Amino acid sequence: MSQPQIAPSLLAADFLHLDKAFDLINQSEADALHFDVMDGEFVPNISFGFPLLKVAHEHCQKPLDVHLMINQPDRYLEPFAKGGASTIHVHYEACPHLHRTLTRIRELGCRAGVALNPHTPVSLLEDVLEVIDVVLIMSVNPGFGGQSFIPQTLPKIAKLKQLLLAGQSSAQIEVDGGVGLDNARSLLNAGADILVAGSAVFGASDPAAVIRQLKASQQPAMA
Ligand code: DX5
Ligand code: ZN
Repeated sequence: MSQPQIAPSLLAADFLHLDKAFDLINQSEADALHFDVMDGEFVPNISFGFPLLKVAHEHCQKPLDVHLMINQPDRYLEPFAKGGASTIHVHYEACPHLHRTLTRIRELGCRAGVALNPHTPVSLLEDVLEVIDVVLIMSVNPGFGGQSFIPQTLPKIAKLKQLLLAGQSSAQIEVDGGVGLDNARSLLNAGADILVAGSAVFGASDPAAVIRQLKASQQPAMA
């Protein structure tokens, strides 16, 4: 089993000291920086956009994992790609032409991610597997950090893993919302490859240690 990847979410960082957040990402075992964009329409909250992406791109040495919680994301794929996104996640629920949108993300040189709200079944991805690089399973209703993990996520990840195997897809499974040391192991055992963690990392007294522990939380293989 390969080591899981950890993507701390910038949403939970102390905005007065963003330099410290970037130092943490650069110096820790974090694999990417998760960048949450909210438009106040698709989700009931507004976060941040291009000015902060520019700062992140200039100061963060790890890949930027951009999560677009916005309506009509096609309008902004190019500026996010040019702004330094490594992966761009769009929401299934916001994309009437998902195949086209994911194809476009790849054309722009990014990894194509599709995010699913808790109520959206994984089976809806069956016919677009070939254009997906990563599936972002929302384990909370998107819009806010610090929410409680929805337990139904665990069987959902297992179901997605089966779907990917059956479709011979090498897409990764990423989980976002309420992820921490208490549930990391079960998520990885269910089939997750990448864990997003906001408050569990930035709310900790030693964030680098939490990142290290999250990364080490995979169940050791049976001898
Ligand atoms: C929620 C965001 C998450 C959020 C996770 O809408 O997509 O990325 O930052 O925060 P925690 O880990 O605190 O639930
Ligand atoms: Zn997110």
